[in-house]
Amino acid sequence: MKKINSRKIEHRQIANDRAIHFHELTTGFEDYHFIHNALPEIDFGEIDIRTDFLGYQLKAPLMISSISGGDARSQALNKDLAVAASQAGIALTLGSIRPALENKDCLGSYRIARDIAPDIPIIANIGASQIVKQYKTQQLIKVLKQIGADALSIHLNPLQEALQPEGEPHFKGVSRAIEILRETLPYPIIVKEIGFGLSLDVIKRLQKMGIQWIDVAGAGGTSWSRIEHHRTVSEEKRAVAAQFFEWGIATTEAIRNALKAKQLNIIASGGIDTGLKFAKAIALGAEIAGAAKSFLQTWNRDGVPGICELIRVFAETLRIAMFCTGCQNLEKFRGNKAIITYRK
Ligand SMILES: Cc1cc2nc3c(=O)[nH]c(=O)nc-3n(C[C@H](O)[C@H](O)[C@H](O)COP(=O)(O)O)c2cc1C
Repeated sequence: MKKINSRKIEHRQIANDRAIHFHELTTGFEDYHFIHNALPEIDFGEIDIRTDFLGYQLKAPLMISSISGGDARSQALNKDLAVAASQAGIALTLGSIRPALENKDCLGSYRIARDIAPDIPIIANIGASQIVKQYKTQQLIKVLKQIGADALSIHLNPLQEALQPEGEPHFKGVSRAIEILRETLPYPIIVKEIGFGLSLDVIKRLQKMGIQWIDVAGAGGTSWSRIEHHRTVSEEKRAVAAQFFEWGIATTEAIRNALKAKQLNIIASGGIDTGLKFAKAIALGAEIAGAAKSFLQTWNRDGVPGICELIRVFAETLRIAMFCTGCQNLEKFRGNKAIITYRK
């Protein structure tokens, strides 16, 4: 238990303090350009960026991605993320609930979010390799209720499990375990990567399992090969981790894969650290876009006011992008091929 919490603390420290971005592989957003509309025929004040998500109305199609939970510092972080998300009217995904499943003393570090923010979607999170053998539906339901979560997101992280010193790279049976959860868990399920993206084949398989929400968590932002490279002491393992520094499916490519699958609800994330990338993710067709590292780093530097400011910058950039492409609401903007072009 202590081990899981100290691993999570190291992850947050490294993600905050070290250069853990990809060096060559990028999200691909830089190759997409909005087509400026000098005659938008709308007033800026009419732009509406509200959207529905998990039975709530968000004030912007934005989510704080899964980061934290378990230890005392996580509790402080989740509390502040919930304060900011609630003020801004956006969604919040908590970090993996594995610590809370193993020790009920950790529950408070997750529950705090719901206590602070009764009015936003809160999503709990668990790793794919943990649902195969360890945790069954009834245990998950109990903890989801205790946390007050609206949905469960399951992360697929084979590369991280393979590289991390204490990894559990057991993925045999994961598909069936997801399918069983989808059939038995009375909560919506989101399946996500953690920064290496989802291929069309994986997305189609998830869709066959009945999954309706995916978070592509593509490559180009946080690199877990770099994070685990920093944590590993063995020279040999560090050399192996270095082979995977540029591995993954870029965020924009993963979004395109998800669009090909059709009738799937897409959350776009992975390297979304500016308002313009956020706006492009939605224009490409995502229902919601999410970010982890930007919020973590902002919190460490500037606390709740910093996070609120970052969210305002994202939201205002989206509004202006919609205004200058002539789209009054997200129905007109989202997935609109006439307003964004690909140019390398
Ligand atoms: C410190 C840290 C901890 C994270 N913990 C989790 C986690 O518990 N579960 C999960 O699904 N993803 C986790 N992630 C991955 C993020 O949710 C996200 O998918 C990934 O970082 C890509 O987004 P980014 O480029 O905006 O950081 C974590 C990310 C960071 C930086």
